[in-house]
Amino acid sequence: MGLRRALGLGARLGRVLLRGWLGGPPHHHPAAPPPASCFPAAPPARPPGPLLLRLAAARLGLRSVPLGRLPPAPRRLGLALGLGLALLEPAAAEEERRAAAACRDIQTIFHPRNKPQKDTLGLVARRGFSLEEYFIGQSIGKGCSGAVYEAVTPATPTGNRDRVPKRRDGGEGALDAQGAAEAEEGFPLAIKMMWNISAGSSSEGILTTMSQELVPASGRALSGEFGAVARPRKLLLGKKWLKPHPNIIRVIRAFTSQVPLLPGATVDYPDVLPSTLNPSGIGHSRTLFLVMKNYPCTLRQFLSKGNPDPRVGAVMILQLLEGVDHLVRQGVAHRDLKSDNILVEFDPAGCPGLVITDFGCCLADERLGLELPFPSWYVDRGGNTCLMAPEVATAVPGPGVVIDYSKADVWAVGALAYEILGPGNPFYGQGGAALDSRSYREEELPPLPAPAAPEVKELVARLLRRNPAKRPSARVAANVLHLSLWGEAAVGRAGFPLPQLVAWLLRQSAAALMTERLGGTRGVESRLKRGFLASLDYEDLCEAAALLCSWRGTAWPAPQ
Ligand SMILES: Nc1ncnc2c1ncn2[C@@H]1O[C@H](COP(=O)(O)OP(=O)(O)OP(=O)(O)O)[C@@H](O)[C@H]1O
Ligand SMILES: [Mg+2]
Repeated sequence: MGLRRALGLGARLGRVLLRGWLGGPPHHHPAAPPPASCFPAAPPARPPGPLLLRLAAARLGLRSVPLGRLPPAPRRLGLALGLGLALLEPAAAEEERRAAAACRDIQTIFHPRNKPQKDTLGLVARRGFSLEEYFIGQSIGKGCSGAVYEAVTPATPTGNRDRVPKRRDGGEGALDAQGAAEAEEGFPLAIKMMWNISAGSSSEGILTTMSQELVPASGRALSGEFGAVARPRKLLLGKKWLKPHPNIIRVIRAFTSQVPLLPGATVDYPDVLPSTLNPSGIGHSRTLFLVMKNYPCTLRQFLSKGNPDPRVGAVMILQLLEGVDHLVRQGVAHRDLKSDNILVEFDPAGCPGLVITDFGCCLADERLGLELPFPSWYVDRGGNTCLMAPEVATAVPGPGVVIDYSKADVWAVGALAYEILGPGNPFYGQGGAALDSRSYREEELPPLPAPAAPEVKELVARLLRRNPAKRPSARVAANVLHLSLWGEAAVGRAGFPLPQLVAWLLRQSAAALMTERLGGTRGVESRLKRGFLASLDYEDLCEAAALLCSWRGTAWPAPQ
């Protein structure tokens, strides 16, 4: 379809939707939307609209609780709020109802269109479930629980091994000439070999002990292994199974196998090798292998070459927030967010795309959700103590104590934002220079560099609030960045006119549909915009807009 026709279609769609949702005039009499402002920039000078009442209710914990079922005290409060709602100008309530309906409709349209592209990276169905099918190249990373290698597998279903790069000695040696030449063509896969020192050597024991690593595995990833253990995954693992998301790693194959002697093993991790490969090694002979896409670098490696410009930095933080929001919605906490556990690739325009990886410390329990009972110090609170949110780091075990992880990862994103935007993570380092998440005061947080947008700075400060109740959720924080990056006209400095916001949403929707139609969906920004529309929620959006307006109202008063 030609560009002109696509633009015409998008514009027509926008007009039709706008008329429907705003209840506007007939087709040939387009008129400006009614001038109503829901979010005054300064503290409200007039009685708050229904939206603000609902937000107040949300902050009081009344959100999504049917009034009839409220306990006595909140119930009285709820009734008062309800009465307030009833006394309000009907037009404002109607405007709000339409805006909420618009959000729902847009969400309904984009939700099914937002499926991540299936990328099997050349792995053909029913193949790639055993280690022998892969050629393993050089080491690309190592952590506390495993080593990661570049890998490739024959793309043809018949598996022509002659076309696969071969190592000269089949062991730790370098590639031979043919192998080196073919390796240059690229290793699209990465294989993580877990170190197994406590899971025994049975497939079932290994899968159960290392089940957290499998949380981001695709539905098909384990099909080879289930033949061996003959049990449905859910019963075996008791862990949540993440739906795919562009900012979360996808494990495309997972299987157990004998531990091989891979390049650098005897130097990099001799102690965890089995005794058959190293007489003094304490590892078991069998372990878990995870196959993923091979990403060009980690966030740490990316940032070691310099910081991105502030706008790209905001896009990167937004991707982390989107990833965390996806986890929270599914009741999963990563608990080990750090720049080594974030992988980076680049879209055709060179914009960095971020993917959260390494779920080895995650909380993904089917029964517990995000609330972890903490009866004793023996309970594992997750990895990376420096980036442990205050409510987790300061928890003291005891009968009935529960740690709520619903805002823990988003706090870590706040700390990572310092690494992305420039001055370095304030929670890293030895001695007096570093802040301690258990005891820091919010005023001690260092200023972010001047080029960062003021609302990005405000948002990071909010993410690092000690009190999780005062911290925005990942969804609201992501919405703040969406509005800040792309919603300039919708959220003006002087206020927040609801019809203008809806009109902006419609323009975004039309643009996203056109981009899809024209095949431009591979860019990081267009993917983010589509994801935003697919998870649109009216109240979360309003909460974000209210935050933005309050910052703009206080920090940058509109000129007289
Ligand atoms: N899919 C991948 N593509 C490219 N490099 C990767 C990939 N997965 C992991 N790596 C590299 O390997 C390193 C270790 O991987 P990973 O974090 O999964 O291991 P780990 O042992 O669980 O780490 P940790 O010490 O954080 O527990 C990463 O920091 C990264 O450098
Ligand atoms: Mg790691």
